[in-house]
Amino acid sequence: MKFEKHIQSLEETEQLAVNLAERLESQDTITLEGDLGAGKTTFTQALAKGLGIKRTVNSPTFTIMKQYEGRLPLNHLDVYRLMDSDEDLGWEEIFYGDAVTVVEWAHLIEEDLPKERLAITIKRTGEQERLFILEPMGARYVELCEELMK
Ligand SMILES: Nc1ncnc2c1ncn2[C@@H]1O[C@H](COP(=O)(O)OP(=O)(O)OP(=O)(O)O)[C@@H](O)[C@H]1O
Ligand SMILES: [Mg+2]
Repeated sequence: MKFEKHIQSLEETEQLAVNLAERLESQDTITLEGDLGAGKTTFTQALAKGLGIKRTVNSPTFTIMKQYEGRLPLNHLDVYRLMDSDEDLGWEEIFYGDAVTVVEWAHLIEEDLPKERLAITIKRTGEQERLFILEPMGARYVELCEELMK
């Protein structure tokens, strides 16, 4: 099952992220795929704001993971530079603690991801236009997507 949303502006991306943030619970996992500059980090920054995170969220490309405190803690992972995909960063603690986890370039750690998650692919279709493809894996995420698409 896939849901598609055509986005016309940066503000619409931010609104989508905030709407999602409001509905998130501990242990939710969101994966973000898309080419360089698609908007994965931009989406995560708006999501963080929506979670009430005050600190600036930067791309954790060189640190792999950063944690932020908000309504719920947020784990922000960018596994683009995780060369050895067999490396165990302590996935259990990351995905099954109190936090919400967002993973950029998630396909690089496919086997370590929770089976139930929301997979988001962002396609750049113009300067500010984007196509968001939401693929819910598991019943909770299907419901979440249906809510988001209303
Ligand atoms: N509708 C939109 N949604 C998201 N970003 C947008 C949109 N319109 C313009 N942008 C701009 O596109 C850029 C997206 O960059 P961003 O760093 O978020 O991409 P990324 O997918 O994380 O790339 P990377 O793979 O390099 O980490 C930002 O400069 C952002 O302001
Ligand atoms: Mg990024």
